[in-house]
Amino acid sequence: MTVKRNVLVLGGNGFIGSHLVDKLLAEGNGVRVFDKYEEHYRKPLARVDYHFGDFGNRSLLAGALKDMDVVFHLINTTLPQTSNDDPAFDVQSNVIETLFLLEQCVSKSIKKIVFVSSGGTIYGRPAALPVAEESPMEPECSYGIIKLTIEKYLALFNRLHGLDYAIVRPSNAYGSRQNPDSIQGAISVFLGRIVRGEQLEIWGNGEVVRDYIYVEDLVDGIHKAAITATADRIFNLGSGSGYSLNQILAIIKAVTGNNVSVLYKANRVFDVPEIFLDITRARKLLCWVPATSLEIGIKKTWAFIKKLQLRNEQTFQGSVRPDKE
Ligand SMILES: NC(=O)c1ccc[n+]([C@@H]2O[C@H](COP(=O)([O-])OP(=O)(O)OC[C@H]3O[C@@H](n4cnc5c(N)ncnc54)[C@H](O)[C@@H]3O)[C@@H](O)[C@H]2O)c1
Repeated sequence: MTVKRNVLVLGGNGFIGSHLVDKLLAEGNGVRVFDKYEEHYRKPLARVDYHFGDFGNRSLLAGALKDMDVVFHLINTTLPQTSNDDPAFDVQSNVIETLFLLEQCVSKSIKKIVFVSSGGTIYGRPAALPVAEESPMEPECSYGIIKLTIEKYLALFNRLHGLDYAIVRPSNAYGSRQNPDSIQGAISVFLGRIVRGEQLEIWGNGEVVRDYIYVEDLVDGIHKAAITATADRIFNLGSGSGYSLNQILAIIKAVTGNNVSVLYKANRVFDVPEIFLDITRARKLLCWVPATSLEIGIKKTWAFIKKLQLRNEQTFQGSVRPDKE
C-alpha cells in the first residue's frame, strides 16, 4: 500500500492468502492473519501476528479486528464441488458469519474491506465470452450463490453505513503452495500425480475451457484493488484467455518432459463448459497486468511440486520435518 496500514488477512494461511501475506509484507504493511490452521507448506513468518480460530468464533474474530485498517476476506468454508452437499451450512458458515464480520468492520471503523469472490462460479453458464463484470449472474452451485449474496451485502453495508469495499472475482488460480492432493486446482493436481508417477484423470473429454491465473499475479491484483479508489468496486482477475484441459495437458507434458497417460471419465453436471474473463476493467482502472504466461507459471509450479515431493521422500526416510520449509 502507498500508505502503510495494519491489515488483517482472513484465511491468510491458505494458498492465495499466504501469497497475499508475502505481498503485503513486501509493501511494508503490518500484517495479522486470522485462520483456523497454520500454513501447510511453511513455518510461521516472524513478521506476522497470527490469530488462530474458526471464522464462526465471534469473540476471536472481533479480537483479531482490533486496531486494523484494512481487512482481506479470503475465508470460504466450502468448495464449488462440496457446497451443494449442505447449503444451510454454506449459508450459516459463510453468509451469516460474514454479516457479523461486516457489523464488526462498521463498529471498529475499518477503512476498507476487500472480498475475494469467484469469477469461475458467479456467472454460471455465460451467454457470451469473455465474461465482463456486468454480465448476468446465474450461479449454478451454492458456492457461487454465497459469493453473490456476500457481494450484495457489501453494497448494502456501503449504502447503510459507508463501509468502503472492493470485490475481486478471480478465475482459476494456480501456483506454489496450492495443495496437489485437493479435489480442485487442475494444474497442481495434475503435476502432483505426475511427480508420483500416477495416471491423470479428467472429467469429460478434456475440452472444458477455463481461465488460469498465476497466484502472484492474482495477489498483485487483490493488493491493487485494496489501494485504488475507483467508482467501480468489482474486478474480474484472470488471464483473460481460455484454455481447454487438453491444451493445459500439452503444456504440462512439454514442461515436465513426461508423456502422461490420461483416463477420461464421465462429465460432471456442475462443470460449466467454457468460461474466461474479460479483464479490461482491472487493466484500465487498477493498471493491473497478469504478467505470467502459462508456460512460466506451470514451470514455477512444477518446481514447487518437485521440491515438495523430494521433501516428502526425505521425511519418509526420517531426515526432514514434515511439510515445512
Ligand atoms: N483457488 C482458486 O482458484 C480460487 C478462485 C476464486 C476464488 N477463490 C477464493 O479465494 C479464497 C482463498 O482460496 P484458496 O484457494 O487460497 O483456499 P485455501 O483453502 O487454500 O485457503 C483458505 C484458508 O481459509 C481457512 N479457513 C477455511 N475455513 C475457515 C474457518 N471456518 N475459519 C477460519 N479459517 C478458515 C483455511 O484454513 C485456509 O487457510 C476463498 O475465498 C476462495 O473461495 C479461490
